[in-house]
Amino acid sequence: MARHAFLFDLDGVLVDTAVFHFQAWRRLTRELGFDIDEEFNETLKGISRMDSLDRILNHGGVTLTPEEKTAFATRKNDWYLELVNQMTPVDVLPGVEDFLKAAKSRNIKIALGSASKNAPVILEKTGILPYFDAVIDGNHVSRSKPDPEVFLKGAQALGVSNAECVVFEDAYAGIQAAKAADMYAVGIGTTEVLSNADIVVPGFEEITPEQFV
Ligand code: BG6
Ligand code: MG
Repeated sequence: MARHAFLFDLDGVLVDTAVFHFQAWRRLTRELGFDIDEEFNETLKGISRMDSLDRILNHGGVTLTPEEKTAFATRKNDWYLELVNQMTPVDVLPGVEDFLKAAKSRNIKIALGSASKNAPVILEKTGILPYFDAVIDGNHVSRSKPDPEVFLKGAQALGVSNAECVVFEDAYAGIQAAKAADMYAVGIGTTEVLSNADIVVPGFEEITPEQFV
């Protein structure tokens, strides 16, 4: 089956916001009296804000009321947005824009498939919004990756079958979601972390759309 559509995760794939999420969560955990490391942070990638908070609290052995949880999640997001609001087009990861351009010129359909509720502001600030035929983000889904909902909705919005889609992901949970949706999964990162991907590449400078259609 020919592949006509590309679905991109956002954080850690198109922009380096995965680092901002880690910084903001770390600031929060330190206030709560514990710390998180990069290895634990890997398990938060692709996971929604509230599910991430639950995992973090569980990791630190902290129990909060639902009201406290909402307040802490808001604080984390305020800190995260301070970083996001400083973003400009130079923050798009190397090779991403050329890859999107090349895909467009081959008439490949392009959608975002992200768990983030902040996706619209990030796409706007970095100037890459015009490349997208559809944007499915945390405002449109109710189930976190590894559930395939975000990618199934992406395929639907583009009007293509699941088997026609290629997913680009930096999270283990995101690759699980892509495979659960019967899509070809390209891991952006290392094979140690993304052992479940169909192929793993370090970034977009090393690949062209032709390799995946
Ligand atoms: C995902 C990130 O893209 O979005 C997660 O990998 C993050 O780390 C999730 O928790 C939700 O993001 P936001 O911006 O809605 O808090
Ligand atoms: Mg990601």
